[in-house]
Amino acid sequence: MRINGSEAGSRMGSEGRKRRAGGGKTAAPKGSAVASRAPVRRRGPTDRARTAPRQEAQPPIAIRPARPGDLAAVTAIDARVTGLAKAAYWRGILRRYGNGAREGRHLLVAEAGGEVVGFIIGEVRDWEFGSPPCGWVFAIDVHPDARLAGVGTKLLAAMVKGFRRAGVRTIRTILARENSLILSFFRSQGMMAGPFIPLEMELD
Ligand SMILES: CC(C)(COP(=O)(O)OP(=O)(O)OC[C@H]1O[C@@H](n2cnc3c(N)ncnc32)[C@H](O)[C@@H]1OP(=O)(O)O)[C@@H](O)C(=O)NCCC(=O)NCCS
Repeated sequence: MRINGSEAGSRMGSEGRKRRAGGGKTAAPKGSAVASRAPVRRRGPTDRARTAPRQEAQPPIAIRPARPGDLAAVTAIDARVTGLAKAAYWRGILRRYGNGAREGRHLLVAEAGGEVVGFIIGEVRDWEFGSPPCGWVFAIDVHPDARLAGVGTKLLAAMVKGFRRAGVRTIRTILARENSLILSFFRSQGMMAGPFIPLEMELD
């Protein structure tokens, strides 16, 4: 499972406003590489200082469970973000998570103007690492053309809603150390360093 890897070319350096995932504010995702995608208005660098809410003429963003027909868009968004096309991997993810809500597995997509512009993968895992059941976010991606418009925030909020329904009270993720974009995003949602540390070892 891909867990919050990194991506080149991120705009970084400014500190996002802190918000609570699934709280009063909306959450967000990333978009598809489909050339005809309806534009989602992106905030420019100067917009970060704005005090007015996100505005005018944006197509509404709907968050919904992924369907089999979303496979191409999800695969294309991931390929755009990571530079790797992994068709078989995403087929497997859609099989496992596309129909797994009752078992606590969720693959949600964000749709704007009739196009998938982002997705999020999460799962409720019981008693792993000695931890009570908690909600893991394994991946979140918003198409570069659809970013900074609240899509990622909405995706995470929808995932959190599902986790709450399942009775968990903690969410976790793991991210690449150098991925300051995803770190800024999760921090903006209220996530902070947790009580676990990752360990690894190269196997020859
Ligand atoms: C991280 C990501 C999901 C954010 O999606 P998004 O739709 O642009 O996020 P939002 O518009 O909801 O932004 C929410 C907050 O995140 C923070 N943030 C988002 N993009 C940022 C950026 N480029 N620089 C600094 N902070 C940023 C801000 O605090 C922002 O709140 P604000 O706009 O009110 O300041 C998206 O940029 C992305 O897909 N990144 C690359 C994918 C990736 O590396 N995924 C991890 C592997 S799974």
